[in-house]
Amino acid sequence: MFYSAIRKVFFKFDPEAIHELSIKGFKATGATPLNMLYKQTIPDKPVEVMGIKFPNPVGLAAGLDKNGECIKAFEALGFGFIEIGTVTPRPQPGNDKPRIFRLPEANAIINRMGFNNKGVDYLVDQVIKAKYQGVLGINIGKNKDTPDENAKDDYIHCMRKVYDFASYITVNISSPNTPGLRSLQYGEALNELLSALKAEQRSLADKFGKYIPVAVKIAPDLNADEVESIAESLIANNIDGVIATNTTLARDKVAHLAFGNEQGGLSGAPVKDKSTEVIKLLSKALDNNLPIIGVGGIASGADAEEKIAAGAKLVQVYTGFIYQGPKLIKEIVHTLK
Ligand SMILES: Cc1cc2nc3c(=O)[nH]c(=O)nc-3n(C[C@H](O)[C@H](O)[C@H](O)COP(=O)(O)O)c2cc1C
Repeated sequence: MFYSAIRKVFFKFDPEAIHELSIKGFKATGATPLNMLYKQTIPDKPVEVMGIKFPNPVGLAAGLDKNGECIKAFEALGFGFIEIGTVTPRPQPGNDKPRIFRLPEANAIINRMGFNNKGVDYLVDQVIKAKYQGVLGINIGKNKDTPDENAKDDYIHCMRKVYDFASYITVNISSPNTPGLRSLQYGEALNELLSALKAEQRSLADKFGKYIPVAVKIAPDLNADEVESIAESLIANNIDGVIATNTTLARDKVAHLAFGNEQGGLSGAPVKDKSTEVIKLLSKALDNNLPIIGVGGIASGADAEEKIAAGAKLVQVYTGFIYQGPKLIKEIVHTLK
């Protein structure tokens, strides 16, 4: 009731302006008693994945808190884990505005943010300040002006910076808004990247005396052969987890709607079945060698159950959270057994 009234007002304004306002509000209040304005108590539903104990299986997906400024606020909302980023080595402005579009008739969003962020050093400062004890994923990417052939260096740079502060690290090779990024999902490019990151993870584990799992985030726009080949690379390189999926380039379900043909990644209800399909294919190909985190179009407890039935061990939400508000976390935790 309460959130639907807030949403009505929010949706009258430009999406990015509201996003920035919300981030400012959460940043200012997250670690103060004012967080009681949105704090909720979520019953524990512990689950162990990648050797990490999650208090409940519902996470905040990457991209909402790109700079890690609102960790305490998202903790107060009751997320079982929070994924911040995508962060890049150097700060960058992202694409020109407007770059986020709401498609309310489809419960969807199209975005072409382009990894706007304040850089990895700023993010690490925020994490240190937050003193958060819960499960924190840090999602890393490459700067737009780093040539594709040097992409690996950007991931390694970020990995070194965040290693000591993350519960797990996500390697994002599936954003559609950084030219060339998705090509890292295929063949030798993927194998080379993953083996370099694995070697770095081993050396950082020695240096810090702790093993921080690495997960890879993939796109929904992959055919069965491509999913199978990614699964083979993940297993061969001993990757710890896979996040499926990012946003889609498909427009079949929204082309007729206002903003339906905007460039960028489509999220929310229209990506739900595509993500679930990728999870099913992955689950078969991975044969329990590594866990799947399911994300894409989850807007109810039943949607989350579908992802778990397809083979996911944890779920994340972004667009559903924008449309449904904090009660979505409660509903999913309640529904998942
Ligand atoms: C505005 C916006 C920005 C996003 N930014 C990122 C990002 O920086 N890194 C990333 O891995 N995913 C990003 N995503 C993708 C989400 O994390 C998620 O994978 C995708 O939206 C599908 O889930 P959903 O349907 O619940 O939104 C973004 C999504 C949206 C809507």
